Amino acid sequence: MSNHESSRRQFLQIGAAAALSVAAAKTQTAAATMVNVPFAAATPAIGIIGVGGRGTSLLRNMLAADVQVNALCDIVPEKAQHAQSMVEKAGQKAPELYTDGDHAFEKLVARDDLNLVVIATPWQWHTPMAVAALKQGKNAATEVPAATTIEECWQLVNTSEATRKHCIMLENCCYGENETLILAMVRAGLFGELLYGEAAYLHDLRGELFSNKGEGLWRRTWNTKGNENLYPTHGLGPVANYMGINRGDRFDYLVSMSTPARGLAAYRAEHVPKGDPKWSEKYIEGDMNMSLIKTANGLMINLQHDVSNPHPYSRLNTIAGTKGIFKDYPPRIYFDGQAGGEEYGSIEPYKAQYENPLWKKQGEIARKLGGHGGMDFIECYRLTECLRQGLVPDLDVYDAATWSAPFPLSCASVAHGSAPVKFPDFTRGKWKERKGSPIAEIQG
Ligand SMILES: NC(=O)c1ccc[n+]([C@@H]2O[C@H](COP(=O)([O-])OP(=O)(O)OC[C@H]3O[C@@H](n4cnc5c(N)ncnc54)[C@H](O)[C@@H]3O)[C@@H](O)[C@H]2O)c1
Repeated sequence: MSNHESSRRQFLQIGAAAALSVAAAKTQTAAATMVNVPFAAATPAIGIIGVGGRGTSLLRNMLAADVQVNALCDIVPEKAQHAQSMVEKAGQKAPELYTDGDHAFEKLVARDDLNLVVIATPWQWHTPMAVAALKQGKNAATEVPAATTIEECWQLVNTSEATRKHCIMLENCCYGENETLILAMVRAGLFGELLYGEAAYLHDLRGELFSNKGEGLWRRTWNTKGNENLYPTHGLGPVANYMGINRGDRFDYLVSMSTPARGLAAYRAEHVPKGDPKWSEKYIEGDMNMSLIKTANGLMINLQHDVSNPHPYSRLNTIAGTKGIFKDYPPRIYFDGQAGGEEYGSIEPYKAQYENPLWKKQGEIARKLGGHGGMDFIECYRLTECLRQGLVPDLDVYDAATWSAPFPLSCASVAHGSAPVKFPDFTRGKWKERKGSPIAEIQG
């Protein structure tokens, strides 16, 4: 065997081992599935854990959706008090505050007057907090990503199934105006047979990452721990919905590759005074991480992540099929034989027929509130309406686990020379029989 062949074999063996070790499912004897399980209908009564930037924004949207807020938790008392004053200003009685350290949330989730716990804390807290809420008989709605390891993904799935409570990831981009429009057009067959998508989180966060408040206090640290896609879900959720992932198809495996890590060190050199503790950090997260995901039905997604370099904001949000293609940032569309030749056209003409009923009815208030163009209100409104009316939630624990999984899977692939790494089937086979597209089927 030549040297080249021998090292190639060795490489493939490492790759296989990587696939094996990461996908080794922490399954336990499965309780009944949570696929297509409706909420127990209830007037939404929520507690929020983490009322920093995002938690405060979610609170504003929940109040606008007429949701009762009974409890708030944050390790910084002033943040909890500020959020409490927002609730009072909205005409509700002051929610009880939990501010006594990192585990104060355990008291919040044990209350008997909540049916939904909203989590907007740093990433390492999402799974422990969601699991604690589920175990106390509450539904959980966590910010993205829901989990950072495959073990955590399984914890969420297993606990949701065992407790019969929903664990939903707050993937607001699934409710975007363009995303819901394109989803309806995909489902109506306008793009023909789907072939590939592109999804990303391209957001110049250097200023925020080096800030001495907010996300600067915790998010930059993740760039010192691993080399992967740290934030896969914003781009991936909508593309997964277009493709019917966990509903007739599923993610099979990914391969991933990163550039060197340069952007954060370069930014620090220009903006951070020598002697600042940040100078002791070593950034190892490659600036651009690209993963290719292959689905069981053979489709392909190019998934990207870069928050460390100058780049106009983009989630790519692309879907292509045998009859046409949509690309976002800016939104543009091309269908086979389109008037004007091979030039992208506008999505405006499609709105009259394909606009999602949620946007038709709630679009005005959503746009006025503003959060990410209005999709944050649509998300909060829809989630709490599903709870109020006892409907099956649009997104479930299987979506939360599946869309979060590229975080650890890309890390494993990069570490093993871009070897293919298998996705666990969190639905335990249910993806084959489940069909449809919940957000596309909303009746208004
Ligand atoms: N969906 C979106 O569009 C979107 C936008 C921004 C942030 N996020 C996500 O929201 C989450 C929060 O981000 P952020 O921007 O609000 O960060 P942030 O730092 O502004 O807020 C986090 C809050 O959690 C609190 N906290 C930390 N540990 C806690 C604990 N153990 N118990 C209770 N509170 C605790 C902090 O004091 C802080 O107030 C992150 O997961 C982030 O990725 C999502």
